[in-house]
Amino acid sequence: MSDNKRAENKKTDNKQVTIYIDDVAHQVNPDDNLLAGVLSEKLNLPYFCWHPSMGSVGACRQCAVTQYQDENDSRGRMVMSCMTPVVEGMRIGLKDKSSEKFREQVIGAMMTNHPHDCPVCAEGGECHLQDMTVMTGHTSRDYCGSKRTFNNQYLGEFVGHEMNRCITCYRCVRFYKDYAGGKDFDVFGSRNQVYFGRQKDGVLESSFSGNLVEVCPTGVFTNKLFSAHYTRKWDLQSAPSVCAHCSIGCNTSIGERYGSVRRVMNRYNHALNGYFLCDRGRFGIGFVNSDKRIKSVKGINTKVGEPNIGMFNEKSFAKEMALHSGEHFIGIGSARASFEANRLLKYLVGKKNFSLGYTNQEMQLALRHKQLLAQYPQQSLAGIENRVQHGNGEKEHDLVLIVGELVEQTAPRLSLTIKQVLRNAALDKADSIGVKHWQDSAVRTYAGSTSTPLFSLQAQPSEFDQNANGSLLLSPQQIVDCLTRLTQMLKDDFAISDTVVALSGQTTPETINVDADSSDVKSSNHEDKFLLLLARALSQAKMPLIVTGLSLKSPELLAAIDELMACLSQKSHGFSPELTLVAPECNSVGNLHFLSECALSIEQIIERCVSRCDEPTSLVILEQDLAQLSSKHSQLLRKHCKTMIVLDHTRHDMTEMADIVLPVAAISESNGHFVNFQGRLQRFNSVHIPVKPIMENWHWLSLLAKHLFNHQEINFNNLEQLQSFFAKHGEPWALQVLSCQSGEGKQTGNGVARQTHRASGRTAIMANQSVHEVKTYLENSQNGALNYSMEGRDSRSSSNMPYTWSPEWNSNQSIFQHQQEVNGELTNAEHENLLNLTLSVFFDESPQTSMAEKIDKLWPILPIKESEDLIVIQNLPWYLADQQTRCLPEFILMFPGNMVSISKDIAEQRSIQPQDVLKLNIDGQYFFAKAKVNMKQAESTILVSLFELPLSNNNISLALDNISKATNDEISDFQQDELNRIQSAQQEKFNVLERLKKQDKTIPIAFYDIEGAFDGENKGEGNG
Ligand code: SF4
Ligand code: SF4
Ligand code: FES
Repeated sequence: MSDNKRAENKKTDNKQVTIYIDDVAHQVNPDDNLLAGVLSEKLNLPYFCWHPSMGSVGACRQCAVTQYQDENDSRGRMVMSCMTPVVEGMRIGLKDKSSEKFREQVIGAMMTNHPHDCPVCAEGGECHLQDMTVMTGHTSRDYCGSKRTFNNQYLGEFVGHEMNRCITCYRCVRFYKDYAGGKDFDVFGSRNQVYFGRQKDGVLESSFSGNLVEVCPTGVFTNKLFSAHYTRKWDLQSAPSVCAHCSIGCNTSIGERYGSVRRVMNRYNHALNGYFLCDRGRFGIGFVNSDKRIKSVKGINTKVGEPNIGMFNEKSFAKEMALHSGEHFIGIGSARASFEANRLLKYLVGKKNFSLGYTNQEMQLALRHKQLLAQYPQQSLAGIENRVQHGNGEKEHDLVLIVGELVEQTAPRLSLTIKQVLRNAALDKADSIGVKHWQDSAVRTYAGSTSTPLFSLQAQPSEFDQNANGSLLLSPQQIVDCLTRLTQMLKDDFAISDTVVALSGQTTPETINVDADSSDVKSSNHEDKFLLLLARALSQAKMPLIVTGLSLKSPELLAAIDELMACLSQKSHGFSPELTLVAPECNSVGNLHFLSECALSIEQIIERCVSRCDEPTSLVILEQDLAQLSSKHSQLLRKHCKTMIVLDHTRHDMTEMADIVLPVAAISESNGHFVNFQGRLQRFNSVHIPVKPIMENWHWLSLLAKHLFNHQEINFNNLEQLQSFFAKHGEPWALQVLSCQSGEGKQTGNGVARQTHRASGRTAIMANQSVHEVKTYLENSQNGALNYSMEGRDSRSSSNMPYTWSPEWNSNQSIFQHQQEVNGELTNAEHENLLNLTLSVFFDESPQTSMAEKIDKLWPILPIKESEDLIVIQNLPWYLADQQTRCLPEFILMFPGNMVSISKDIAEQRSIQPQDVLKLNIDGQYFFAKAKVNMKQAESTILVSLFELPLSNNNISLALDNISKATNDEISDFQQDELNRIQSAQQEKFNVLERLKKQDKTIPIAFYDIEGAFDGENKGEGNG
């Protein structure tokens, strides 16, 4: 590729050209098409098929404008703006009568078959087609004939289908198939009978299917969960939030009405998610409304006979806490709680009594993680995709190697980014003949199947395997060995047996040649072949992207990656490798801030509880289920810990065991920050106030500070007070957060409205009794940044926008009005909020003791694996691979059932046939699952997809003898259990919906303050 050509084709703000739109001069970006240029100037021009991220195909003809030859040309010719490049001095007319008429007629033609069912359509009020219809002036319906109709399909629990509304813009299939690589969705039919869907009814397989709802400009694809408990966009309170379901930290907008969360929409973030979310992030929010939420305090004596809800009294709380105030407390934080809450807990218990809730092995892993982050700065998703310029000049990834991390499961949005990286080679090819990247159809036609080289070295099968130039399934230890061999090959200057291109003195080629047919490769065994191909490709790559993570729980893997990166980085052949590390949870990187040699592992806590009989130990556990502990260890912990106080929002084993449970607000009800995989400190805001006694985690901790820990200096009524407290202690993160917040506030003075602009037609649900919308919050429940009201600043004035909206653009397509230019930063982008972690390694390096020895001494790992044992690796589908969402009924209904995948050798040894029901004894607990035999799987691994096995149990060993075939009785019990699971999920889904609908009808609900329910001085606002 030519870097120069690529540079020409990229957005460069300094290369502006002047064009004349309706005789007014405008500066636009020469790399944009005309439509993007016009929209970047905030001018209204209707369109449908163009998408800012997917480019142009010229399918809808809606974006017509008149182009004039020069200032003397008064007639001009019509062009489709999305298919027209901008050139210096070009003159166009948006207001020319002929193109205006044409645009109106295009809508008219589309409307001949459209059902005009806006009143019953879930898209109504935020529909791009509605907006365009009004914008083009198509006001009356002339067509009187019959309309074309289609049958709709069942597409699963999340996406509804109403094909009659289709206007044939092709956006859905371009997103699902071309952009996201989905295989089960297409366009069928001919002429005006064009159908967008699956070959037959069935659950959409892609974990990005929810984006169809936002990508489709009409109501063909709708959010089924939202439709089931529906409200119009203009009736929602919305708030800017951050997805809590993996470490990527996609930005979301959560919508709420009458105290229940209704939906999650994508919130554009230039650096991260751009325009797309994964389905876990979009549909996983249901846990907030779940029946499993903890809604009352456990273990605090209150007056007998009072109802649970709202039952909280600070005096009783203080009295109870006084009974425990002399105890020795250890605090266990968690990677799914906010950064602030973890910080406060650590402050309360002291650094020697603080734990991140990690086992010894996880502590070692976290330390490696921290080291790697210090050495290899993490690119944003935009950086990886080359949507923004890399720090080190104009470059792009020309090879991808994914090692030991099932990205599509652990960080789905990153997998979508990797799919775009794999297009780099195709874009280069287009560059070579001067085709602009926004010419989507031309690029795809010309480049064909050209793809950036991809290698996948995994313990589980991955969706990337089938398109990879090389893929290998090994056990975690074999992966480490394989990486070590690879590094050695590279260290030997890429000249093993003369089979690999030697780099010394050579110029790297323009495109990487991965020749799997060469004789040396062909004659090798599978692993050698893989290594030869990979080493050869790496030897030619200028900027390989290495992706890995922590899900195999192997500190050795991270050490091997470090070696590989060091080796690649040291080569002076123009190599500039980049590493992307997937962190386990939404705030795992934030918690690295609190990792020190004093931090306790779970084993150390158990040991301390057991050994210190003279000074009994008690625990405060913050949003942590300690699911990685075996039941034996959990029982041991419970037995020897004096008092167990758990703060959480959802029930689990620890809340059952605890003496005191304090109900905590979920993400939609609380404020705070998470730190994403790259160290970006991101704020999430409450969209509704929790019903007492549920309170935000920092609020409970503040009460504990006062009544349990005797920290009288702490009495926070809002999050800002907490941040100011740590800012006064000189903590840089707090200073940084406060300066960002005050920066936003100073600019504007008052908060942004959580509801869309004032307009008539809001829907009072109790209109039969009163037309006044019931207020669920007090007027004063506002913070500096956001108002619980339609009064306040326009969401466009803040980068912390609750929703996308602008005059005449009610749909999410209005995003261009929030951006500096199409696909650019938001107009009022906050300062980069990257947390500057203290990333130096905290051990003094002395020659006598290696760091590994020191870590081993602090957090020793017991040898758990016998050589004949199998390594258990969890292989759950993406929707069950997150603690907070795996119990959602809709996700459970998608689960095909427990499955165990074994290698062919094990199957033969144990005479196991596919579909046999197996019985597994894991740590004394029995699990049943259907067998699957995988020819490529490493012999020493067993891949389990067991609904009941806690998520964090990965890379544990299992003796072969602990696997047996189930008896007939056990098989029928297993089948019954699977059936029961489905039935109870269906029942739960029904119950939750009924409860929420009933709740709507029983308003006014005293959401904010129940008289006498909370008589203390902490009558805070519940928001930050
Ligand atoms: S279903 Fe929607 S996105 Fe797909 S072609 Fe029809 S209108 Fe366009
Ligand atoms: S990729 Fe991760 S952060 Fe983004 S929406 Fe999905 S689960 Fe949430
Ligand atoms: S947006 Fe230009 S043809 Fe569809």
